[in-house]
Amino acid sequence: MSHTLMLSSANGKEDISRAGDILRNGGVVAIPTETVYGLAANALDCEAVKKIFTAKGRPQDNPLIVHISSFDDVFSLCDGISDIAVAIMKAFWPGPLTAVLKKKPIIPDIVTCGLPNVGIRFPSHRTAREVIESAGVPLAAPSANLSGKPSPTCAAHVAQDMEGRIDAILDGGECEIGVESTVVDLTGEHPVILRPGGVTLEQMISVAPGTTTADFNRELKEGENPLSPGMKYRHYAPLSHVRLVRGDADRAAEYIKNKLKSGDEIRGVMCFSEYKDVFLSTGAHVVVSYGGRYDVSAQSKEMFSAMRAFDETPVSCIYIQASADVSGMGLALDNRLMRAAGFDVINV
Ligand code: TXA
Ligand code: MG
Repeated sequence: MSHTLMLSSANGKEDISRAGDILRNGGVVAIPTETVYGLAANALDCEAVKKIFTAKGRPQDNPLIVHISSFDDVFSLCDGISDIAVAIMKAFWPGPLTAVLKKKPIIPDIVTCGLPNVGIRFPSHRTAREVIESAGVPLAAPSANLSGKPSPTCAAHVAQDMEGRIDAILDGGECEIGVESTVVDLTGEHPVILRPGGVTLEQMISVAPGTTTADFNRELKEGENPLSPGMKYRHYAPLSHVRLVRGDADRAAEYIKNKLKSGDEIRGVMCFSEYKDVFLSTGAHVVVSYGGRYDVSAQSKEMFSAMRAFDETPVSCIYIQASADVSGMGLALDNRLMRAAGFDVINV
């Protein structure tokens, strides 16, 4: 493929229906959602789905989630849906929640990589829903980054990774949340969160008190099978070494400042906005901020974009100043930062 068509939701119905046409005809289109951009193709068309794996360079054993534009679609794609599952979906759909349920045969094995379950997501983003409706089919869509890169939160990020590799990019502006959906296994007696995300653990517990979390914040042992295949991949793998410095913001800043004094590496810092000048004046070569120290929503929204900014610089090590507060959206934020750091964490 040589040319990627640029479409925009600002052009209204016309570009949305062009995106829908391409998808219905087996093409791949990057679309905005409230979490991150997705790389979409007709979920019921094996050849179309194959193109997603190729464009992303995605491992063949990491399943895709399927996006729908109306609640009832889940019943035509999945079987054996429990009352608790319905309650959870009713509470958080449309929105940043992916429900893992038993798949019906209509969903091809290539989507789930042979697993009996499929992740279903009903996004709240207006353009996302309009594109799904226009395509007239459910859309398989992983995040629209090259495998191993940070998820894209604007169309320019998608273009960096996907220009020339897919049919079109539909620009819908910046993503509101900036962190991917919460993936929750709803096939058992109680919901199990496989990946923390836009719907918080606290919100889940308020609907289903028995909700638990999988052990997603650690590296897998060799040969170990994860509950969610995505958990075995390090998501952001920059060439540089990333270290996560977690705790009180002032103490984390002190720790990083000390490290900046030594060595002849090209040093980068990803920090809260209040600390940007401090680090610039104490030996960091590249400083990128990601939200205010108490503003977890802004941190979540800007995190992937900040990580991506380092890829255009020659830094060889990156220190990330981070909070140790994992309540609310903090849990998802911490999980993505941990993965970016390859679990190299210093608690201060
Ligand atoms: O917010 C999101 O979820 C975005 C937007 C585009 O919707 N999509 C997204 O997709 O983040 P992806 O493929 O980058 O991440 C989906 C995660 C992966 O970690 C995958 O392993 C897991 O969900 N997953 C998918 N299907 C699964 C299944 N049947 N069982 C367990 N985990 C599954
Ligand atoms: Mg992804």
